[in-house]
Amino acid sequence: MKKGKFIVIEGGDGSGKSTQITKLKEYFGDNAIFTREPGGSPYGEEIREIILNSPNAKQADGKTHAALFWASRADHLKNTILPGLESGKHVISDRFDSSTYAYQIHGQQEHPLKEIFPVFRNFFVGDNVPDLYIYLDVDIEEGLRRKANEGVEENHFDRKGGFLKRMHAGYL
Ligand code: TYD
Repeated sequence: MKKGKFIVIEGGDGSGKSTQITKLKEYFGDNAIFTREPGGSPYGEEIREIILNSPNAKQADGKTHAALFWASRADHLKNTILPGLESGKHVISDRFDSSTYAYQIHGQQEHPLKEIFPVFRNFFVGDNVPDLYIYLDVDIEEGLRRKANEGVEENHFDRKGGFLKRMHAGYL
């Protein structure tokens, strides 16, 4: 059976990721499944809640977060991405492993994770690597301006200054 394509959209604050995803939804209609990370499957969404909304999340470091993101991703792949591709549809994910690379290794400065990243990627993703990653690269200041104008709510990964610069370098 013909498999669909697995496409990942990445981008920092104010990069226009949501706008582009809305347009892609209009374009692809029923031919694509739209999903997101963290989350994207029932169990993955529960892990998302712990990562983003637990009052204790601020005490955790990049190691803990990386482990939770990989756990969420493993379930997301098994229960949403792979069945979607097998059904012949394209799967378009708002973020994937490139976010862990940029946010946890670079943003949260868990540098030792860099060395084991390929091992984790191989173990959790294996042959199911995305067909295409699209990174919406927007100037950090411009992204912050847009975000301020939209009045978007912040989560604890939305840091300022140095974090954003490191994250941007991580993506590149
Ligand atoms: P979300 O509200 O979905 O933000 P956005 O609109 O920016 O995608 O929150 C997801 C947050 O989780 C976002 O700040 C990026 C962060 N994140 C990581 O730190 N590591 C990861 O592996 C993933 C998938 C997301």
